[in-house]
Amino acid sequence: MNTPTAPLIDRFGRAIDYLRISVTDRCDLRCTYCIPKGFRGFEVPENWLSFAEIERVVAAFARMGTRRYRLTGGEPLLRKNLTDLIRNLHAIDGVDDLSLSTNGTQLGRMVHDLRRAGVARLNISLDSLRPECVAQITGSASLEGVLLGLQTAKQAKFEQIKINMVLMRGVNEQDVNAMADFCMQHGFILRLIEAMPMGSTGKSTDYISAQSPLNELIAKHNLQPNYATLGGGPATYWQTPDGRFNLGLITPISQHFCASCNRVRLSVDGTLYLCLGQEASLPLRPMLRSGCTDAQLDAAIRAAIELKPERHEFTEKPAQVIRFMSMTGG
Ligand code: GTP
Ligand code: 5AD
Ligand code: SF4
Repeated sequence: MNTPTAPLIDRFGRAIDYLRISVTDRCDLRCTYCIPKGFRGFEVPENWLSFAEIERVVAAFARMGTRRYRLTGGEPLLRKNLTDLIRNLHAIDGVDDLSLSTNGTQLGRMVHDLRRAGVARLNISLDSLRPECVAQITGSASLEGVLLGLQTAKQAKFEQIKINMVLMRGVNEQDVNAMADFCMQHGFILRLIEAMPMGSTGKSTDYISAQSPLNELIAKHNLQPNYATLGGGPATYWQTPDGRFNLGLITPISQHFCASCNRVRLSVDGTLYLCLGQEASLPLRPMLRSGCTDAQLDAAIRAAIELKPERHEFTEKPAQVIRFMSMTGG
């Protein structure tokens, strides 16, 4: 029995209800906004948290009231035996919402196992439906492979499938309409994401406000605001009058959502990052490996939450170098 303790509330009164767990910093793609080509600085396997260590951290968060968990990477499906971890996390008392973010390349072969193991919701990256554009952004992905994965995912009856599209000036601006039609046809939620200057890669991506394509989509599909919760994330949603299609906007740059931030991130090496856009962090691996008690682990997590910054400063400090997205986990 995982005995509940007081909930996690930060200095700004925000309840921490969402833990994002990066199970690997490796990826089979090199999306231009995420990992630079030729990058070699991956974490060595000795420093990866084991499944038992991840489960211990999740059990601690669950005792403190955190209900939502998302597996991220890198590409999480590259971590060997991932479904074993998912099964164990799903069984932890208090883990109510277990989701996964993926680039989709491995979905075709894994998706039914993921669903059976306990993943309820899937977020898949796809920035265009033009094969040459996908190859240019990712360095290699075959659009056909990802589309096949999406088809298989559709059959696996997830509670929700979202498509994450990072907007890039001069790269995929013209693809928004086709992406919306595709998602409408298949029952996927489309999210338009503003590129953040994470590491040198994000910085070189020319940001476009997600508000710009919105007006055209509102007019074309008669979209109305949808105030319902479609997950635990920062997106704001619009829907068609029949409610069958939802469009989400994720606007970290044009309209940041830090005042309602509910999340922290555990990286593959066991560092707890308190904000996507700041350095504040606390390493948990040393204490996990030196035989700490549950009470000590809880106390360390509570102390870390005290360090959570009020917000990111991507606009004020554009020169500040933050980790690549693949290191923190999206
Ligand atoms: P659900 O709403 O639970 O489905 O999840 P989500 O939208 O939080 O998950 P996902 O990993 O798909 O997030 C999509 C993108 O939103 C991320 O890749 C980031 O670009 C952005 N994002 C998510 N969380 C944060 C955050 O805390 N801060 C900022 N600045 N951006 C975030
Ligand atoms: N800015 C915004 N979103 C990003 N992602 C990766 N790098 C960035 C960035 N620099 C998103 C991808 C993926 C998720 C895991 O992270 O869209 O869906
Ligand atoms: Fe939370 Fe930091 Fe993201 Fe803002 S940038 S929403 S404070 S994690």
